[in-house]
Amino acid sequence: MNRRTVTIKVNKGYDVIIENGILPNCGKIVKETAGDCRIAVIADSNVANLYLKTVLSSLAEEKLQTEHYIFDAGEKSKTISTLADILEFLADKKLSRSDTVIALGGGVTGDIAGFAASVYLRGVKFIQIPTTLLSAVDSSVGGKTAVDLNAGKNLAGTFKQPDAVICDPKTLSTLSEKEFSNGLAEAIKYGVLFSEELFEYFENDRLEDNLDEIIEKCVAFKGKIIEKDEFDTGERKLLNLGHTIGHAIEKCSNYTISHGFAVASGMAMAARAGEKMGITQAGTAEAIEKALEKYSLPTDTSFDPCSLASCALSDKKRAGETITAVIPERIGKCRLHGISVGELEDFIKKGKKQ
Ligand SMILES: NC(=O)c1ccc[n+]([C@@H]2O[C@H](COP(=O)([O-])OP(=O)(O)OC[C@H]3O[C@@H](n4cnc5c(N)ncnc54)[C@H](O)[C@@H]3O)[C@@H](O)[C@H]2O)c1
Ligand SMILES: [Zn+2]
Repeated sequence: MNRRTVTIKVNKGYDVIIENGILPNCGKIVKETAGDCRIAVIADSNVANLYLKTVLSSLAEEKLQTEHYIFDAGEKSKTISTLADILEFLADKKLSRSDTVIALGGGVTGDIAGFAASVYLRGVKFIQIPTTLLSAVDSSVGGKTAVDLNAGKNLAGTFKQPDAVICDPKTLSTLSEKEFSNGLAEAIKYGVLFSEELFEYFENDRLEDNLDEIIEKCVAFKGKIIEKDEFDTGERKLLNLGHTIGHAIEKCSNYTISHGFAVASGMAMAARAGEKMGITQAGTAEAIEKALEKYSLPTDTSFDPCSLASCALSDKKRAGETITAVIPERIGKCRLHGISVGELEDFIKKGKKQ
């Protein structure tokens, strides 16, 4: 057994357990965490085909009674309407306040099942079993839940820390190359933000055999930030590295460019702009570009700065007349930098490759 455990010290605290091959034994951890209760497993259609049976059998081995709900895979399902269906399902199955919801899947499943767990009967226990790299390194930890509204992504949500996160890196082997790279952009982000040592794993393409360690490091860094700023009013904004421009790219592309790919471009652009502004150590942008390119991630965008700026300005993260951008000082250290609305287009222009 080669188990890695990261404890996130928020509220009563919870463990993120990372172990290759743990999925067929997840029931044991669920029982230790939630006790003898009923379990509702929420999964999307793809993940249900791949892993639901394994999870349900493991829960049954622990004599835990289960129900499961499957929704159509994809961001298009992250809506109030799916949330309502899940809540009606939980009520139909008469889940009680002492029962537990499990999110088995990627960020979409985690966000929507977490939302349901936080509002059903004013909150029931919640366990995340992430199966995408993005959810393993990022969305399963931290307690943000969300659904999309017509006006934009993630516009309704709650804070709901999970009671445990159970991550089996082996499940990531069935991800498409594109989904894997999508999550890798967020993992590389943690290297740029907090650790040269972590960044080197990507620079030197040492992913194979080290995924559990990489996930552990990303989660530990995210955990430290969340412990200091659970509700995203200060330091947690650092986690938005690459996201100001990234969100604008996603929006400009009408969401045909996926989140991680947009964040990759945003990260490289923030570093290039930072170098021109004298904030970023020379060579940092090149190092980021090289790491991203290794995994076929983009480092620039074809959208023009004017359209990107107007997309970014309609973003909910705009506070008053200033936008908080995250700019690398060097690999392993970034800073928050206020940019006025008027300066944003120029910042984006500086970030584009000439
Ligand atoms: N709550 C947060 O803090 C937070 C942070 C970042 C992103 N997010 C949200 O996460 C979502 C994106 O997450 P995502 O990229 O995991 O998307 P996702 O959940 O849609 O998963 C991507 C695709 O991979 C499939 N899949 C999942 N696991 C698989 C596996 N092991 N093998 C094969 N296919 C598998 C899914 O069915 C889906 O088609 C967005 O909605 C975003 O807003 C939330
Ligand atoms: Zn992100």
